[in-house]
Amino acid sequence: MELLDFKEKIDLKQLEKVANCIKKGKLVVFPTETVYGIGTNAFDEMAVSNIFKAKGRPSDNPLIVHIANFKMLDELVTNVNEVEKKLMKAFWPGPLTIILPKKDVLPQNVTCGLDTVGIRMPNNDIALKLIKMANVPIAAPSANVSGKPSGTTIEDIYLELKDKVEYMIDSSITNIGVESTVVKIIDNEVVILRPGKISPDDIKKVGVNVKLHDHLFKNININDRVESPGMKHRHYAPSTKTILVDGVDNEKTCDKIFKLLDENKTKKIALLSYEENKKVFDNFDIEYLSLGKMGDLNVISQNIFTNLRKVDKLNVDFCIVQGVEKEGVGIAIMNRLTWACEYNVINV
Ligand code: TXA
Ligand code: MG
Repeated sequence: MELLDFKEKIDLKQLEKVANCIKKGKLVVFPTETVYGIGTNAFDEMAVSNIFKAKGRPSDNPLIVHIANFKMLDELVTNVNEVEKKLMKAFWPGPLTIILPKKDVLPQNVTCGLDTVGIRMPNNDIALKLIKMANVPIAAPSANVSGKPSGTTIEDIYLELKDKVEYMIDSSITNIGVESTVVKIIDNEVVILRPGKISPDDIKKVGVNVKLHDHLFKNININDRVESPGMKHRHYAPSTKTILVDGVDNEKTCDKIFKLLDENKTKKIALLSYEENKKVFDNFDIEYLSLGKMGDLNVISQNIFTNLRKVDKLNVDFCIVQGVEKEGVGIAIMNRLTWACEYNVINV
């Protein structure tokens, strides 16, 4: 495995080598604006099957296919409707994955046998150049072992995936930090299957109807039929038992956390809360990790997965995370936190 440092600038010669690797069906870790992806040639069935192996990914959880232009889109899907066109115009390149009817050119394992495929055009220079140079669409899930928080820094991904890929491209922490918004258009309405940086309000502004899928904050049974298979698999979970304490009033929420800490003085606890709250918990002998400043949802989202990964290195008995407001990208953060704590939520 070769690690390429593109933090300062992109080395086009090196990128050409990575693109050739992709074309030949080798696996590569590359940045997008959301999280790192582990990608390969979407037309190569064997290569795609190696992605599932590398991640230990359940074989019923389809991959997203990344494109760099609309010519690639035409090769992959059919019957794009007006609502879908509006979304592409407004948000591509960007953190929006649209589920579309697929053509037969894609191997079955990319979509796990579904007749639809998730497509996105990432808004990241390295990713776009890589797709163009490889001249094939890139099938890529998030770069992490299945069930672990998605990788947003190479440091977090390195040990997990270094033996599984030919190249890793390091471009520092990814911008957004949570994965793309996944939508499917059902009866002319945009249904959000996975929330992300592009929020229901952003989508509404384009002049289309939008709703969050009812499954987003619910505990889903493994045998339930769901619109997006990724919803029912254990996701984003640190190994450490995690409790989410959520409330609109910061003071009351802190009181509740204070009580929990008081009741568990013999335990080793990690607390993920706002920067401003650090002093409130000064008297407790705990591991304090800052989510970011209150209301600074972009910083909180950028660091959320790397923070969850830090928790596992602290060797604590359990972790308490304070919830954030369910607004904008906050909806995505809360969705990931709900999964991280496996529905162990205390509402204040
Ligand atoms: O931001 C992102 O989307 C990142 C970067 C690398 O692009 N990728 C990513 O991929 O998060 P992954 O595989 O970790 O998540 C893909 C999600 C899963 O929840 C999957 O179930 C859903 O998209 N999905 C993919 N194809 C689908 C389809 N045909 N129908 C419904 N859901 C689909
Ligand atoms: Mg993932």
